[in-house]
Amino acid sequence: GAIFHLLDDPETIGADQATQYFADGMLILEDGFVRACGKRADLEPGLGTGAEIVDHSGSLIMPGFIDTHIHFPQLDMIASFGEKLLDWLERYTFPEEAKFADPAHAEECANFFLEELLRNGTTSALVYGTVHKESIDALFGAAYKRGMRIVAGKALMDRNVPEAVRDTAESGDLDSRELIEKWHGKGRLGYAVTPRFAPACSDDQLTRAGKLLAEIPDLLMHTHMAENTSEMDWVKTLYPDAKDYLDVYAKFGLLTDRSVFAHCIHTGGEVFQRMAEHGAAVSHCPTSNLFLGSGLFNLREAEKYGVKVGLGTDVGAGTSFSMLQTLNEAYKVSHLKGHALDPYKSFFLATLGGARALNMADKVGNFEDGKEADFIVLDMAATPLLKRRLKTCTSIDETLFVLSMLGDDRTISHTYIAGECRYSK
Ligand code: GUN
Ligand code: FE
Repeated sequence: GAIFHLLDDPETIGADQATQYFADGMLILEDGFVRACGKRADLEPGLGTGAEIVDHSGSLIMPGFIDTHIHFPQLDMIASFGEKLLDWLERYTFPEEAKFADPAHAEECANFFLEELLRNGTTSALVYGTVHKESIDALFGAAYKRGMRIVAGKALMDRNVPEAVRDTAESGDLDSRELIEKWHGKGRLGYAVTPRFAPACSDDQLTRAGKLLAEIPDLLMHTHMAENTSEMDWVKTLYPDAKDYLDVYAKFGLLTDRSVFAHCIHTGGEVFQRMAEHGAAVSHCPTSNLFLGSGLFNLREAEKYGVKVGLGTDVGAGTSFSMLQTLNEAYKVSHLKGHALDPYKSFFLATLGGARALNMADKVGNFEDGKEADFIVLDMAATPLLKRRLKTCTSIDETLFVLSMLGDDRTISHTYIAGECRYSK
């Protein structure tokens, strides 16, 4: 089939240098790793006699999508009507998350969740659990079975939330450590220290989170920041001495090159500058930001300061598991911010950019020799309209743009994890 991937950010070295497209391409895999990617005519003659050939002619092959922010326990309350962030949390989210004290419920949801990721062409994700360690046990168990590269953590939340979803600074720390011991580095799994957001965590809890992050060198840190104006006001009241929201996290040692901050809408300038200096990443979640009426992320501004950016669905505030649908709304948000998001840049954000945001670009994100073979096959005739519109495209960037506007789960025909087909339509 045709193959597209990115070697780098198209804006730093130019699209010509950063992208590779082979209209009649071949991807050579060995033991779940990419060995070569190029023109079929160049690579086919060198294949050994034992090589198994899988033909995806007529389709487009690209690296699997990387979702840099998603909540697996919010599956059953996606599309809940009417509220903005803080009321949405109280009314819908916390009651739903309380159900994850039950390991059987957690396991059933974890399996559905991962199948839904695969069905949407998402091969890696940074995932929130609930406050219960059972939620993450269930998710990691299910991800391990499927061989997926998943990073996740139990949510730390010891104040300003209902009793049923509250831990303590001490229990949250112990549970995180137990999960790290059990799962971190097992197969392709990784742990993220996951304070829910500053208003839900005591100083003691954030202090312990910072210590844990400093203790273990390859953990990630995953939280929310500057999503909603009422949240911004609340943080100001809780931390009157902090320079700004980022400074709250920074004071507890949570601003690092392993930190991922979802949203970052009501901020910019000097805050982005500090994030870039520390190598922290933003997860941009357009479907969620529009659904909750949170605001419009300024991607251009984040890039001006050199902040790492990935894309997140943020299900259940986000309205789709599909990273193609997420690109659709990212384009519209950037348009309202005065900038038309380039299709190469879009697919960079959904793949290699996301891998960089999660510090896993040495392992996944494109088809460089030695990367883990997580990739997807796109059905260019998935719907009558998509088929019709793609026929009129005369270049790969136009094709990519149309895919990002019209594509969704139906567009994903196969999803491969470490060289194994784990989903086919
Ligand atoms: N801020 C704190 N918790 C959440 C959550 O579950 N979803 C979103 N979108 N923002 C949050
Ligand atoms: Fe979120």
